[in-house]
Amino acid sequence: MTVPRTAPRISRYLTSADLAESLARDVRQGLDHTPKSIPPKYFYDARGSELFEEITELEEYYPTRTEESILATYAAEITKLADADTLVELGSGSSTKTRLLLDGMREIGRLARYIPVDVSESALRGAIESLHVDYPGMAMHGVIADFERHLELLPQEGTRLVAFLGGTIGNLAPAQRARFLTALRSGLRPQERLLLGTDLVKDPGRLVRAYDDASGVTAEFNRNVLRVVNHALHADFDPEAFEHVALWNAEQEWIEMRLRSSRAQRVRVADLDLNVTFEVGEELRTEISAKFREERVREELRAAGLSLEAWWTDPAGDFALSLSAPI
Ligand SMILES: C[S@@+](CC[C@H](N)C(=O)[O-])C[C@H]1O[C@@H](n2cnc3c(N)ncnc32)[C@H](O)[C@@H]1O
Repeated sequence: MTVPRTAPRISRYLTSADLAESLARDVRQGLDHTPKSIPPKYFYDARGSELFEEITELEEYYPTRTEESILATYAAEITKLADADTLVELGSGSSTKTRLLLDGMREIGRLARYIPVDVSESALRGAIESLHVDYPGMAMHGVIADFERHLELLPQEGTRLVAFLGGTIGNLAPAQRARFLTALRSGLRPQERLLLGTDLVKDPGRLVRAYDDASGVTAEFNRNVLRVVNHALHADFDPEAFEHVALWNAEQEWIEMRLRSSRAQRVRVADLDLNVTFEVGEELRTEISAKFREERVREELRAAGLSLEAWWTDPAGDFALSLSAPI
């Protein structure tokens, strides 16, 4: 018997104009400040999303394959516990690991729909195209949105398991994380669950190598944010005049990615009528990636009104997945 295929839908809550407007605001604010910074969500134009996929294949970058191994071992248990018919995934990217969760839901006969949510339209469309072939009968509703701004607009159908994988939550600073988790919690019904992927504190040498690989892919990914700004705001950053830096901040327990100006230079951001000077060696912060301990995850969830119900790690304790429920 052929299973009927439902055509995927795509909703756009983040228009190109919105994205350009928030980029303009964030770039003005970030470059006006000392130290200078640009938020990590702007890495992900089509090229940035491709580079991120290359990063996930690198020998040094353990998080993706480790999270995937945890999902491969526990997806059946996770999906049984969550007992959802709808998987919503925030920052879904290529949705590769997601297949393990979809398979788990399919095996228990609960898979009705998948709702990937991402700022990157190219990544979202690519994921939907490939899943559409392999999951006939599953409804798909992709959403181009910013998970920091549009959570209340997300589709409400079904009983939802909200997955936030890849350790992406670590890219938010503590206050941003608290706001994000509280907003997420307020949209969950009592029977709905959050599946959260968090990278764990470990040897700083391994952490730094994961963000500063020998083949320079992460450096290219980091510099790509300057190309995004050049393109969107008619700026004249010379990406090659910035060196990729990854360092471990032991006090905050996060990795910082920075771009270090290799010479004194002036950059013009035409659309903002802004001239920015960089001294030689001056750094622009582009990403933090917080690393967690179980207690901190539990605490942050609790502060947002979520109770940690289950915690899964790989044998080496490198990465964790947690399932939590509204309190
Ligand atoms: C580190 S990647 C992880 C991708 C995938 N979840 C994984 O585990 O491999 C972060 C993803 O989140 C998306 N993203 C980053 N900031 C976002 C935001 N504010 N709203 C929606 N998506 C965002 C990026 O486009 C990217 O696909």
